[in-house]
Amino acid sequence: MGRQIVSDAPAPARGILPPVARTTGFAVWLRRLFWLNLFVEILIVATGGLVRLTASGLGCPDWPQCVPGSITPTRQQEQSWHKYIEFGNRSLTSVVSIVALALLVAVIVDQRKGSGRRGLWPPVVGVLFGIAVQAVVGGISVRTGLNPAIVATHFLTSMVLVAASAWLVWRAREGDGAPKPLVPREVRWLAAVTGVVLVVVLFLGTMVTGSGPHSGDDAENPARLSFDLRTVTWLHADTVMLLTGLVVATLIATLLVARHTRAPRAWALVLGVIVLQGIVGYTQYFLEVPAGLVEIHMILACLLVTATTWAVLSLRERPVTDTAAAQGVDQSSRSGQSDQTGQRRPSVSHR
Ligand code: HEM
Repeated sequence: MGRQIVSDAPAPARGILPPVARTTGFAVWLRRLFWLNLFVEILIVATGGLVRLTASGLGCPDWPQCVPGSITPTRQQEQSWHKYIEFGNRSLTSVVSIVALALLVAVIVDQRKGSGRRGLWPPVVGVLFGIAVQAVVGGISVRTGLNPAIVATHFLTSMVLVAASAWLVWRAREGDGAPKPLVPREVRWLAAVTGVVLVVVLFLGTMVTGSGPHSGDDAENPARLSFDLRTVTWLHADTVMLLTGLVVATLIATLLVARHTRAPRAWALVLGVIVLQGIVGYTQYFLEVPAGLVEIHMILACLLVTATTWAVLSLRERPVTDTAAAQGVDQSSRSGQSDQTGQRRPSVSHR
């Protein structure tokens, strides 16, 4: 096989992500690894949803073994095909862990090569720590007979992992200079409040699930939260209205004051995913939560967390430093230069 030639030519930035700062070999692999990590983090939420929606949570009644004496499902087990679904989800945990360990090794190598890249450690350590927490919380949820509060904690921890993974994808493309705000402080506060309201929406969503037919319990062992399903659903939906208003406000603010067009594009994406999620949310509510739509609702929640993480990050930029410049950078990613639409905006300083 021939050697792969990696171009030093400026790589055009696509969509809402910042232009690629480094285009040489290892940086390319690092970016691919970060994308893979984000993909597997979302995939495990989807397969976890499949476990819950097919009531396969106790398909492996023991943890960490599937049944006492065997780490894999056995023919003697009575849990029919449920044991394979639960075991498949547990196996994916190994894939997620291997990818996370690869992240750690890759970042160590990157630093040893003297890349001078900063800001990678918090999300990488966050991903590793989060996976360790998930292994424990997953085990507790099995041992407590799928207690809905524990199942909700499991889902919400995954959302933190998805956010950290999305942050890594973004971070891998930027330069290494100190972050510089691209919008005034008031807009950054608006975005922060929007992020907090999204956390409340996610939390209330898990309360709806925990109070309804998909809490993860089985017919013989009902385990539900004691909220009134209708009330908690409307609370969830009303908070979504507030979230939508905040996202529209942030979008308009970025259209008016942001230096790059990336920021309004990122917030427009957030708005698009919310509208889609709202349509799925109301449809599943009125159709009495069919499993297929609930699965889509979960995946869209992951995509919304990803889009919102990127939208918040789009409000600042990290310019390219001299260390990075010596290692093959895309000069167009330097601070204050044009973004991929070719638009130039004057460099204004924001508090
Ligand atoms: C930004 C928009 C929204 C987000 C981010 C969101 C997020 C979530 C999350 C995270 C869950 C829990 C998933 C789980 O624990 O497995 C959930 C459940 C739910 N959501 Fe939403 N949601 C949104 C909009 C809506 C809307 C507008 C409705 C309309 C009523 C709705 C109805 C529901 C229902 C009925 C459930 C329970 C599904 C089940 O039985 O598992 N959602 N949502």
